[in-house]
Amino acid sequence: MSAKKRIRVAFGLAAVGALTIGLAACSTGDSGGDGGGSEEITTVGFVAVGPEGAWREANESNIQDTFTEEAGYELKYAPATNLDQKSQIDAFTSFVDEGVDVILLSATEASGWEDSLKRAQEAEIPVILLDRGIEPDDDSLYVTRIAPDNVEVAKEVGTWAAATFPDGGNYVVLEGPAGVGVVNERNTGFDEGLGDSSLTKLDAQTANWSAEEGKSVFETMLKSSNNDIQLVFAQNDEMGLGAAQAAEEAGLVVGEDVKIATIDGTKNAMQALADGQLSYVHEYNPLFGETALEVVEKTLAGEEVDSYIVVPSEAFDSAEAAQAVLADRKY
Ligand code: AHR
Repeated sequence: MSAKKRIRVAFGLAAVGALTIGLAACSTGDSGGDGGGSEEITTVGFVAVGPEGAWREANESNIQDTFTEEAGYELKYAPATNLDQKSQIDAFTSFVDEGVDVILLSATEASGWEDSLKRAQEAEIPVILLDRGIEPDDDSLYVTRIAPDNVEVAKEVGTWAAATFPDGGNYVVLEGPAGVGVVNERNTGFDEGLGDSSLTKLDAQTANWSAEEGKSVFETMLKSSNNDIQLVFAQNDEMGLGAAQAAEEAGLVVGEDVKIATIDGTKNAMQALADGQLSYVHEYNPLFGETALEVVEKTLAGEEVDSYIVVPSEAFDSAEAAQAVLADRKY
């Protein structure tokens, strides 16, 4: 990932920074785009991922609950068809042709977006990336990316793993689907966090963000290693929860025979952490709708917006830590 200038935001405040955006006039012809308070409606095309798991549901619901008509927006929600990138590109093209005021993009695939982004740029329609990045990462083609920092999040997981296994051990990685940008970022961060740890990587396979696949893939990994795996780094909660099921069915005790670390921080994972079925959960906070709205308003008002806006996310490394936040969990 290019060395982007990142800025950490407090919710509801988008930082000003390095990139000046050409003003895209709102569909109403008004450059205000202030959303609330005025009668003009700002049209937002949301090229979304659609049904994928608990994190995605929380993230996309939060965006839809934020860009409401009362707030002065018409949000056109376009989820991918079965996670298919072509359906996303078709929706993106339709939004450009329709002349929406701004496009929000959560890409199912990291590559293959250059032509679409250039078309939006020619039409002076600003594009804001939500969660997922693009590869190659040309930040002249979009306003900003709003997401927790995958590299930093995964680096903290790696650092925890190295500290938890000072004498080493065997580990495996359950990855998201090939071609999804966050997968590479999480691998990069985890490896950085491991540093010179003597943990040994036995295997890394995709389980496609799914609990069912996480269980079946880890079952196979356990069989082929004669259960000699001490750590699982699951790149999302569902795959980690699936691995926990596989460990239990193999007669292993999570937390003693094997530890399982995941990323997302969804309710089920936090409950599992509290119950000892997971060992470490790093939040990848999906609730950044307010930040996205602030960024849209600044962009349409022609104000500067930083090229990467990091959403703060916490780490939880014990049952007690999970118990402390479970009651108030928003996703
Ligand atoms: O891009 C974010 C990832 O996509 C989440 O970690 C995962 O749960 C989702 O499917």
